[in-house]
Amino acid sequence: MARAHIITYGCQMNEYDTHLVESQLVALGMDMVDSPDHADLVLLNTCAVRGKPVDKVRTVLGLLRKEKQKRNLVVGMMGCLAQLEEGQQIARKFEVDVLIGPGAILDISKALENNQRFWSLQFKDELHDFIPPAPVDKLQAHLTIMRGCDHHCTYCIVPTTRGPQVSRHPDLIMKELDMLLAAGVQEVTLLGQNVNSYGIDQGKRVPGVPSFAELLRMVGSSGIRRVKFTTSHPMNFTEDVAQAMAETPAVCNYVHLPVQSGSNRVLRRMAREYTIEKYLEHIAAVKKWMPDVVLATDIIVGFSGETEEDFQQTMDLFDEVGYDQAYMFAYSARPGTPSYKHFDDMPREVKIERLKRLIDKQKEWALKKNAAFVGQDVEVLLRGDATDPSLLEGHTRGNHPTFVPKVPGYDKPGIYTVRISHSTPHSMFGNFVDAQGQVLLPVKASAANA
Ligand code: SAH
Ligand code: SF4
Ligand code: F3S
Repeated sequence: MARAHIITYGCQMNEYDTHLVESQLVALGMDMVDSPDHADLVLLNTCAVRGKPVDKVRTVLGLLRKEKQKRNLVVGMMGCLAQLEEGQQIARKFEVDVLIGPGAILDISKALENNQRFWSLQFKDELHDFIPPAPVDKLQAHLTIMRGCDHHCTYCIVPTTRGPQVSRHPDLIMKELDMLLAAGVQEVTLLGQNVNSYGIDQGKRVPGVPSFAELLRMVGSSGIRRVKFTTSHPMNFTEDVAQAMAETPAVCNYVHLPVQSGSNRVLRRMAREYTIEKYLEHIAAVKKWMPDVVLATDIIVGFSGETEEDFQQTMDLFDEVGYDQAYMFAYSARPGTPSYKHFDDMPREVKIERLKRLIDKQKEWALKKNAAFVGQDVEVLLRGDATDPSLLEGHTRGNHPTFVPKVPGYDKPGIYTVRISHSTPHSMFGNFVDAQGQVLLPVKASAANA
């Protein structure tokens, strides 16, 4: 077996795990290829957070099963869905050969050793100590600082799929960071379901592990240009994090603080463990330490029992905070979660209609927020060519997708100063600014031909 391909669904933790498994496959002598078409091994790194990603996996596995009848092909399932009974049923139905849960990904080598069906669902301690090789030729990288989640939000499947929280030792994190730095990485995103509770696993402080605020300062003084992190949980958010962010220049002024709902009644039913009043206190602390902070959130609309009034409170909260970015989802009742068992689901039309109204509001805010950057010089990490190869694409310190036309001498990935010329709710567009503060406009193709 020689060629392998991984299809990744879900969040950045899955992206990190895909990179980790790819490095294992390469160590086994396999070639990673860009498409499943000519691969001998296709792995699906799955997500189970909502029904949609699960449906996608079913569709793709159906196609792969047909493909297996035509040629020699090994199909594997990894990621969150693999950990669930639901996923294992799907795997049996579609004749999946290899199934490894999120805690068992290092078993991939064992799985491929012999030609038998291999399933592994254990959470293995060795995974926390494993340092994957740095990505090649990449300016940005993810770095997992913890795995699992100790919360029990009633809608959420993640604690079941990823197990209880385990913080990684800071020595390992710093070692992994050194390797990233040596490989030329300039922006690192620290990953965890609740980075703010780093160092406190199952309610107990882990000996030898600093607080998240201290870790931010350590990572920020390593020489890396940009540090980001995701996700923060409002319950564990403490002001020392906002202070550490403000006092550590490498740490970007970007906070992703999922609120989920603007209604205390709904938050209680979700078991989110904070009130809107508390949440707004955290937002105020963040704004006090970083007046130019870019704020992002996650919102679930149409949760079981959400009334029009509850939803209106979410809309009002959006205006009160003035989010720059938001990830918005219609509630998806997931088998195995407490809300699936105990609460009724509401009609899909209601959820979709509310979601639409919220998205309209988000667009208005994003339009306004992004327009404020027009005329300003901002730092952009350009990671490579956009779909239109005359442009480079990347993002600001506040995670705004940004597009810049190439000009002579400014056509390679890197961190640059860009003067924003216009913006939309989704993206910003601008031009390079040279060391003298001069804007570098591209020579139009037509003018060049004249
Ligand atoms: N640990 C992170 C979130 C991880 S899941 C946190 O607590 O902030 C990412 C997002 O998916 C959540 O913030 C939530 O908005 C959404 N989500 C989770 N379960 C969901 C469900 N059953 N239906 C719809 N959205 C869901
Ligand atoms: Fe899910 Fe809640 Fe844990 Fe986030 S904090 S992963 S939403 S259970
Ligand atoms: Fe991520 Fe989806 Fe798992 S959001 S943690 S891959 S369920």
